[in-house]
Amino acid sequence: MSLLRIKPINTDLTSDTGLRRCLNAFDLTLLGIGCIIGAGIFVLTGIAAATKAGPAVVLSFVVSGFACAFAALAYAELAASIGGCGSAYGYAYAGLGELLAWIIGWDLILEYGVATPAVAIGWSGYMNNALTAMGLGLPDYLLHAPFGATPGIVNLPAALIILLLSILLSIGIHVSAHFNAIMVFVKLIAISIFIGVAVFYVEPTNWQPFMPFGWNGVMSGAALVFFAYIGFDAVSTAAEEAVNPRRDLPIGILASLFICTIIYIVVSGLLTGVVRYDTLNVPSPVADVMLRLGHNWAAGLVAAGAIAGLTTVMLVLYYGLTRIFLAMSRDGLLPPIFAAVHPRTKTPIRIILSCGVLMAAIAGFMPIEAVAELVNIGTLAAFVFVCAGVLILRYTRPDLQRPFQMPFGHVFAVLGIFFCLYLMFSLPWVTWLRFFIWLAIGLAIYFVYSRNHSVLAQPGGVSK
Ligand code: ALA
Repeated sequence: MSLLRIKPINTDLTSDTGLRRCLNAFDLTLLGIGCIIGAGIFVLTGIAAATKAGPAVVLSFVVSGFACAFAALAYAELAASIGGCGSAYGYAYAGLGELLAWIIGWDLILEYGVATPAVAIGWSGYMNNALTAMGLGLPDYLLHAPFGATPGIVNLPAALIILLLSILLSIGIHVSAHFNAIMVFVKLIAISIFIGVAVFYVEPTNWQPFMPFGWNGVMSGAALVFFAYIGFDAVSTAAEEAVNPRRDLPIGILASLFICTIIYIVVSGLLTGVVRYDTLNVPSPVADVMLRLGHNWAAGLVAAGAIAGLTTVMLVLYYGLTRIFLAMSRDGLLPPIFAAVHPRTKTPIRIILSCGVLMAAIAGFMPIEAVAELVNIGTLAAFVFVCAGVLILRYTRPDLQRPFQMPFGHVFAVLGIFFCLYLMFSLPWVTWLRFFIWLAIGLAIYFVYSRNHSVLAQPGGVSK
């Protein structure tokens, strides 16, 4: 039955796939931190504290952190045993069959393809603030898409940054990883400055009442701040560029998530400890708190850290998108013309440039901040499938070499599924509706195009 086409697993995880293998565990961890710390902590924490969870936003981070920890363990197991730059899409292809793999791949395209322009729009706001401070602010009509609440002509900085990143990604993974490392360093310094200053201004009475919106508030806060954790999964898309994927992918995925979880709990605890939670509903809460404490220099550095942070988030999300696209094109589910890797740069230039132009257009001309929650539901759905994949493959492929095993595999995988579904059900119904529309479009494409063009549908066809 064609819907259950299972792709054979390539057990040689270091085979030559045309991409350049040059990333070690440290690079992969920095890639993860690069993708994780961004709009979630620099923007959403304030909104979540003020409108959803109150000071208990710390608990929202803990709940979301648990969901991600289980998912990260599952990713680590599958990335080290199955590998492939398709990440969850590839694991599903090997464990759950082609149709589910397509749905997850389509879902991941949504995750990375919507998140990148959404973050670019946030980046544009921060960047223009910095330009304004230097007397170089852009006019309003160059900062807004034509159809939004504040209509303009184009969000120019948002479109430009994506085009710049496309050049960077085309040049090669080595240069991109180097740039990412420098930017990650800048954002970590900014966060350390915030922590170092804020810790002296904590007023424990600000943590009272701790849960003004009850447990429901904590949960809807968790579903929102989940966005802050997205990114550790993108590490797994670097499987074909990792020197030693079996060892280093689990390290990169788990270490980046662990470091960021600690940072999030500390920063959100400090934010709500320094000022009243109901005053945090501002676009840049972390810098804003520094200003309110009278530390203008720290506010400036935090804003610079946020710009650097959002840049690396876009870079790694965009990178992840291109690698998943590459895996799907190689399998024939998307047009194979995209699957070419440039012989000199060893990057999938056609995919990078087409995705870049498309996402730049979305960031420049569409007011997509409103659909950013779609990213959360899409990612959570992928996490559910990855946890399920661990369970299923342990039964169907007990022989598979598993250099990293999810501890308490069956229990943790079920807990991961449960936590992620719980978070999904804490999202508004309108997000579900948009998600189903996206899936319906995906299914239509699958049945019209992908099913017949799949490499596995061709006589004797096995793709890389
Ligand atoms: N985790 C990323 C961010 O917070 C997507 O911006």
